[in-house]
Amino acid sequence: MSELNPELVERTAQWIAEAGVVVVFTGAGVSAESGIPTFREARSGLWAKYDPMRLATVDGFLNDPRLVWEWYAYRRKLVREKEPNPGHVSIVELEGWADELTVITQNVDSLHHRAGSTNVIELHGNITRVKCFNGSHVYPDWNDEAGKDVELPPLCEHCAQLLRPDVVWFGEQLPAGALEESFRLAESCDLMLVVGTSGNVQPAASLPAVAREAGARVIEVNPEASEITHTAHFMLRGASGEVLPEVVRELRKRT
Ligand code: OAD
Repeated sequence: MSELNPELVERTAQWIAEAGVVVVFTGAGVSAESGIPTFREARSGLWAKYDPMRLATVDGFLNDPRLVWEWYAYRRKLVREKEPNPGHVSIVELEGWADELTVITQNVDSLHHRAGSTNVIELHGNITRVKCFNGSHVYPDWNDEAGKDVELPPLCEHCAQLLRPDVVWFGEQLPAGALEESFRLAESCDLMLVVGTSGNVQPAASLPAVAREAGARVIEVNPEASEITHTAHFMLRGASGEVLPEVVRELRKRT
């Protein structure tokens, strides 16, 4: 936090106050302070401990459906036990200073919704939902307790296919409507705040560059440099649960 430059906090507040259409593009880092592990951090990231090819691909699932189901059941339980942190809450508060604010998230943990954000686009699905293998039947807010006496993964009660988490795995298409709307917003927003993403996973990772090329102001919030850093006008270096409340405080001073 000591590295946070007050002039950059002021400039961020100024740019938010001047912007009409704001996009907040988030990744796993925004939920780190809620106790949900990120993916690519060297020691604590999920992909440092678990093999994404076994756990986050269609082939991995078909090879060992029970293992994959149980890993997501474990993560479903984890996200349900966690709470939104001051970073999520500050993003809700920013709605008060924009004409229109949309959160575009790569996260599957529902924490933006639970914090109270009004417009949230989920690019990578939602871990609390499950669906049948061909995606025809979706079960919102899946209850693992209810299915615990059946062989895992449970089967769809409508079509008898295997159930799977409603998240986007490597090699899969992102939900078309969410993707189109995200690119439309990136092209038309005045300001994009990029919070807690390493910028490694396409196509989501190109949203900041699309926004910048279309003339938007782009600010990054991250304790570390990322693949997005060179695209941003500047970076607020620090944890989002500390940096974003500072920005909200600065905006409040101005009203
Ligand atoms: P990553 O794990 O790749 O990156 C997390 C980012 O958060 C890093 O840049 C960290 O420096 C930053 N970070 C850590 N703590 C933070 C904090 N307190 N405040 C702000 N930032 C912090 O996660 P994503 O970029 O979200 O995809 O990963 C993108 C996608 O890759 C995920 O959606 C997931 C994964 O495979 C799917 O599951 C399809």
